[in-house]
Amino acid sequence: MPRESRPLPETAKCTRCRMRAVIALPSHHANFCEDCFRVFFRRAVLRAMKKFPIKADEPILVAVSGGKDSLAAWAVLQDLGYRTQGVHLNLGIPGFSEASEEAVAAFAGKRNLPWVGYSLQGLIGYSIPEIGRQVRRPVCSVCGMIKRRLLNRITIREGLRVVATGHNLDDEAGRLLGNLVRNRREYIEKQSPYLPSAHPRLPEKIKPLYRVSADEIRAFCRVEGIAYLEGACPLSRGATSHMFQEALDMLEGKMPGTKRDFLFAYLDARPAPKAVDDFGTCDRCGEPCYGTRCSMCTLLERLRHPGYENPPLDKGSASSE
Ligand code: AMP
Ligand code: FES
Ligand code: ZN
Repeated sequence: MPRESRPLPETAKCTRCRMRAVIALPSHHANFCEDCFRVFFRRAVLRAMKKFPIKADEPILVAVSGGKDSLAAWAVLQDLGYRTQGVHLNLGIPGFSEASEEAVAAFAGKRNLPWVGYSLQGLIGYSIPEIGRQVRRPVCSVCGMIKRRLLNRITIREGLRVVATGHNLDDEAGRLLGNLVRNRREYIEKQSPYLPSAHPRLPEKIKPLYRVSADEIRAFCRVEGIAYLEGACPLSRGATSHMFQEALDMLEGKMPGTKRDFLFAYLDARPAPKAVDDFGTCDRCGEPCYGTRCSMCTLLERLRHPGYENPPLDKGSASSE
């Protein structure tokens, strides 16, 4: 059971207004009533947004999967007055993708928010399950690369400069732990809730929820009545990123606040990431990439010509973002 839903005794008082508290946040040593929790949550997101060097009137493309994180991010950005547009990528995973898109459509309809839908099949001619049957590495990591690349391209295509994703504190702390355990220094250096644009064809990337945990996001969705798609993608079972998050959950249970301390101590101690344009241009599609062939074109070539030996996918395909 998520920590936030553990019932508080009737005598518990809200840390902020002293009315009856219904949400316990052990990592903040605080209990909140629903209204004060909303204030707390929005302030945490505002604090994140203030750390990003983007203008208050800059329109933001919000990448929405239909899950709790990206819908909560979109909701708060709207509440805080940002101009937003949603984008959903239909990955063609039977059952899961239809339900994801329906959750996005229902949320956007209820809040009267603009959004645009793209399908992987329409964009590159293959769905994720089709790709999964042909590649020899876990489909999740290929899917991550595809989503990052296509979201970059769609942002520029839609005429926007900033793309937001729903990555939360648990995601970021888990990723940091994983990168440290494997001593992936170049990914550690690039791990940031804000990434500047290093090329005219690449957007700035922001993670407005990096200061709030998955439990806090679940509580926010509940009090705001946000209907999201529960459950992970059926193809992501056994992903190692989940194991690092579980390890941190264990520590968090014994020492509330550990996850935040771990991530924020690292982020506070490092210099802001610089936009280094060390990109080449893909000789097939003209998009920026490391070397001369982007990972999308390398993948597509492999899919069209099974058995053809390509160079390994470029550095940008790994989980550095
Ligand atoms: P994931 O890589 O599935 O953990 O998702 C991380 C973030 O990527 C989500 O919070 C969304 O912002 C974005 N995202 C994931 N899947 C999609 C999708 N199908 N369409 C649009 N954005 C997505
Ligand atoms: Fe990409 Fe599941 S969402 S493999
Ligand atoms: Zn290319």
